[in-house]
Amino acid sequence: MKVIVANPCGFCAGVRRAVQLAERSLGQGREVYSLGPLIHSPQVVDRLRDQGLHVAQTLEEVPDGAAVLIRSHGEGPQVFADAQRRGLEVIDGTCVLVRRAQNIVQQLHEDGCQVVIVGDPHHPEVRALLAHAPSAICLNDQADIPKLTGHSRLGIISQTTYSPAAFEQMVDLVISAGHADARVVNTICQATQARRQAALALTKQVDVMFVLGGQHSANTARLAELCLAQGVSTYHLESWQQFRDSYVQGKSAAGVTAGASTPDWIIQEFVSNLFRK
Ligand code: F3S
Repeated sequence: MKVIVANPCGFCAGVRRAVQLAERSLGQGREVYSLGPLIHSPQVVDRLRDQGLHVAQTLEEVPDGAAVLIRSHGEGPQVFADAQRRGLEVIDGTCVLVRRAQNIVQQLHEDGCQVVIVGDPHHPEVRALLAHAPSAICLNDQADIPKLTGHSRLGIISQTTYSPAAFEQMVDLVISAGHADARVVNTICQATQARRQAALALTKQVDVMFVLGGQHSANTARLAELCLAQGVSTYHLESWQQFRDSYVQGKSAAGVTAGASTPDWIIQEFVSNLFRK
């Protein structure tokens, strides 16, 4: 079986830094709690748990004296304020590009815009972005547009891992719905775009695509959607354990890509096993 791996794929700089921060702190013997699973890769979360990383769902679950690790998705200002009030050490793993998006949200709000975030309202990055502007509104679907009432100037940004085409389409829909006074800032991360472009190019050379990443990873799911939309058989798998021989029956060339929270060792394990098929 011919196997081609997309370049780039896998860990982005923001996720790599968050994992390194966790490993370094644990290596120093500190008691560390990440606020939510550190990244959308159950395999990496399990490895870090074995190294001693605890996962807390809320700040209240973090015991006094422990350090709290903020993941790359970031958190709202209240979480930082609460941690400071309790005297907890904060290890800030917020990705610099997510921080940039948070700063833009804050700036748009201070400039008097109605902040609009195009993204999945349940995603932790979007929840943290919403927390940076008290009246911010999230749009994930055309049906959400009526949430925009009044005629104040809009400030529109997107979740960093959103599809550029879907963002553009949503902006067009908002403007055609009568909200022409809008400042639009593209906050989609280049790492996400580069992975999408590499995957797109690969779909033209293979007859089956494997997209590796956690089932809850938004950017992995969008990579899989993108490949499928090119008419290529596509499988979104977390690791080699989910592979089935039937996926490559009658296929001669396979492409492999991976979301930004998929570590190198999962990609390498998958590729070396696939080579033997
Ligand atoms: Fe940051 Fe982009 Fe990764 S926003 S966490 S570098 S996908």
